Amino acid sequence: MGIMDSERIVEADETSSDSSELSLRPQTFSQYIGQKRVKEEMEVYIQAAKKRDEALDHVLLYGPPGLGKTTMAFVIANELGVNIKNTSGPAIERAGDLVALLSDLEPGDVLFIDEIHRLAKPIEEILYSAMEDFYVDIVVGEGSSSHAVHVPLPPFTLIGATTRAGDLSAPLRDRFGIVAHMQYYTISDLEKIIARSSQVFGTEIGKTAAHELARRSRGTPRIANRLLKRVRDFAQVKGEVKISFATTSDALDKLQVDNAGLDLTDRKILQTIIEAYNGGPVGIRTLAANIGEDIDTLEAVYEPYLLQHKFITMTPRGRMATKKAYLQLGIVYPEQ
Ligand SMILES: Nc1ncnc2c1ncn2[C@@H]1O[C@H](COP(=O)(O)OP(=O)(O)O)[C@@H](O)[C@H]1O
Ligand SMILES: [Mg+2]
Repeated sequence: MGIMDSERIVEADETSSDSSELSLRPQTFSQYIGQKRVKEEMEVYIQAAKKRDEALDHVLLYGPPGLGKTTMAFVIANELGVNIKNTSGPAIERAGDLVALLSDLEPGDVLFIDEIHRLAKPIEEILYSAMEDFYVDIVVGEGSSSHAVHVPLPPFTLIGATTRAGDLSAPLRDRFGIVAHMQYYTISDLEKIIARSSQVFGTEIGKTAAHELARRSRGTPRIANRLLKRVRDFAQVKGEVKISFATTSDALDKLQVDNAGLDLTDRKILQTIIEAYNGGPVGIRTLAANIGEDIDTLEAVYEPYLLQHKFITMTPRGRMATKKAYLQLGIVYPEQ
């Protein structure tokens, strides 16, 4: 069984082996590396809300998995000095669940809803009045004795996180005063994250090794931390005190992460476009069927990185592989 069979190593979604994420998670803006624009903006809004002694406006955080959305929500609550309640769209099954969460909040608290695009429609509709005017109207009782009850709520801040902002209904999206788009991290920011994480782990990593790891982490802190753990294992077995460049590079080769941070699925996407469809254009449905991934995952997880790093371009008729993609896979680019 190959090392990749158990768990996809560059999987940006949380997996069971990420329990140490809790200890790695920054608590304050000063520990939160990168995302400069989002951070600077949030700091202003937080200060203003604190000065006015009001709840912070509702915040929508969106972007690919592993870029620090959940972390950001907790940092915001921490910087506001309020409690945070943590739930997710699919976890809220009944209207009563949401009302219970909301009425339990203290003034100024944060309710964090992860995967907010997966909220059931009736639940979402309850959120509208809660977000806008801090009340909910719920129906209690059954049949002829049923009646509406008006429940006032404390002023609170909803922080929603999603990988798919496009899947949010307009009425919900419009109720977020602050919308922040999380970006892929630069190599230098990832180096800082790796340095911080290795301190938390109590391991040492050389400068060139950290750089190599950063370069191959797909712009994603969660992947950087996961790869660091695996590389640390390789170094441990070799008896290295300080993780070396050679070990890092070898380990990453074994984990099939290439020098652009692309994993097997990324390369399969490019290979399919190039070899099965002559470089494209290919529609998303066709591509998904060929790769064996669902469309949502392709759009929310894979394509953003491939697009940002110009391995693919988007045309009205579908995705096309760029010259850079051919070069990365070592396939001759058909000029003209
Ligand atoms: N800006 C950051 N600085 C340092 N570490 C980060 C940062 N953002 C994310 N991380 C690390 O990456 C992990 C994944 O982040 P998370 O907030 O869970 O991502 P998301 O919610 O967007 O999927 C965190 O546990 C943390 O260790
Ligand atoms: Mg998250």
